[in-house]
Amino acid sequence: MLHQLPDLPYAMDALEPHISKETLKYHHGKHHAGYVNKLNTLIKDTEYEELSLEQIIRQSNGVIFNNAAQTFNHNFYWHSLSPSPTEPSAPLKKAIDDTFGSMEKFQKAFSDAAVNLFGSGWAWLVLDQHEKLLIKTTGNAHTPIEEYETPLLTCDVWEHAYYIDYRNARATYVETFWKLANWEHASKIFEDIEYLNKPGLLPLCNDPDDPLCDIIDEMSQQNEPTT
Ligand code: FE2
Repeated sequence: MLHQLPDLPYAMDALEPHISKETLKYHHGKHHAGYVNKLNTLIKDTEYEELSLEQIIRQSNGVIFNNAAQTFNHNFYWHSLSPSPTEPSAPLKKAIDDTFGSMEKFQKAFSDAAVNLFGSGWAWLVLDQHEKLLIKTTGNAHTPIEEYETPLLTCDVWEHAYYIDYRNARATYVETFWKLANWEHASKIFEDIEYLNKPGLLPLCNDPDDPLCDIIDEMSQQNEPTT
């Protein structure tokens, strides 16, 4: 199966002035596209050729893993950004308040983690396997999908995400990230996961462009009620 570079869920200039059209043109059209194309070349005629992206991430290593994981991470990152301001839903806000003390404390802890990650990588808000909210960072291509954690929000802190607009000022880019963070998308995943955990109910995941659909579909198969 050929993996596809998804279109951005907004126009190239939609995140200006915070993230420029030039950054998105290179980040999506060169870096993200490069990972997808390399992955397709690497898996041709191998055991990975017919696997889903998530399966490749969990079963491969080395250069195939790197390109598969970076493909997933970027698919997810574009949905973590929104051109218009969004707010977390009431259930997600309550979970953040309960876990981190307040939204402000959560944002500070997330920003500190993102800024202090050594080298290239990602900062994440995830739900772990016990449905506990966690802030975590992953180096290089690593991704919470490896640990069967569910990402809600991510900030790409590879230099290619911010160098054109902010040069080496990662902290300024991370501060700006909060003007773009897509809480609507994070809330939808959070509520889908909560929904999945109610016995006897079947989940809904009807958006073919949502990179989380594969995960939700996989969980739904695990959670299908046995009669
Ligand atoms: Fe990136």
